[in-house]
Amino acid sequence: MLILQTVDELKNWVQETKRAGHTIGLVPTMGFLHEGHLSLVEKAKAENNKVVMSIFVNPAQFGPSEDFDRYPRDLERDRKLAKEAGTDAVFVPSVEEMYPRESQIKITAGAQANVLCGAKRPGHFDGVLKVVTKLFHLTEADLAYFGQKDAQQLAIIESLVADFNFPMTIRRGETIREEDGLAKSSRNVYLSETERNEAAHLKKALEMGKNLVLQGREPIESMTAYLSEQTSGKIDYIELLDYPTLTTDIQSDAILALAVQFEKARLIDNIIFNSK
Ligand code: PAJ
Repeated sequence: MLILQTVDELKNWVQETKRAGHTIGLVPTMGFLHEGHLSLVEKAKAENNKVVMSIFVNPAQFGPSEDFDRYPRDLERDRKLAKEAGTDAVFVPSVEEMYPRESQIKITAGAQANVLCGAKRPGHFDGVLKVVTKLFHLTEADLAYFGQKDAQQLAIIESLVADFNFPMTIRRGETIREEDGLAKSSRNVYLSETERNEAAHLKKALEMGKNLVLQGREPIESMTAYLSEQTSGKIDYIELLDYPTLTTDIQSDAILALAVQFEKARLIDNIIFNSK
């Protein structure tokens, strides 16, 4: 597995790969890999000749009071896991390599960023769009893989590709969970033992809410009561919206999404289901 640290190294690899007639699948990550990330690699391997993963903790998507500095990092472990999963190349640029100068152009997410995490983390999705635009251009990927765990991110990136005719297709990967239902996340390491046990109730609350919606009932109040009872975390939001438009006008697919702030980790989770 190749380790590419600079834009030029990546470009050379892309050129060679394309010249050999291979297709490229891209799996963007911020590292501290878990089975959620690796499931995307597996999907990418099945559909492309070559798979490139990026590992870059992107400062542009963290707010000033957020966890950029203490976001978990372990490159040695990531290299090992990426290699075992069959990744062909890993792109691990420094911040200076990705952002050598202050950008003169801003990419701004539209109304899809006014709800859920976008409403709570101003500028977050603009930072995501900034880095994925660069990664899409640098890797010239045919297919790029994103997890439904971050469903708002996925929907916004699908809009980016559609609205600006990016010559690639976005593939969705289902949320990979622990045995008790907790969605795998790099941030789970920051949960205390008690919080870790409580965190299984996020998925349970979502299932409960889904059942209420399917019975034509309002889910938010019951979910709020359930989570307040079962966890010590502070509920940041619980919302029911159309997916992927993220408006309140639910057509067929609905997303029920929540965020809970624990002592050192803010966890998000969602389920998407046909509500009609
Ligand atoms: P990160 O949180 O590292 O996630 C990288 C990719 O893995 C995202 O597409 C995310 O949705 C997916 N993922 C995370 N947990 C998952 C799980 N439990 N099951 C399935 N997929 C999961 O998301 C980011 O990084 C960044 O915002 C990024 C897109 C790389 C831009 O910086």
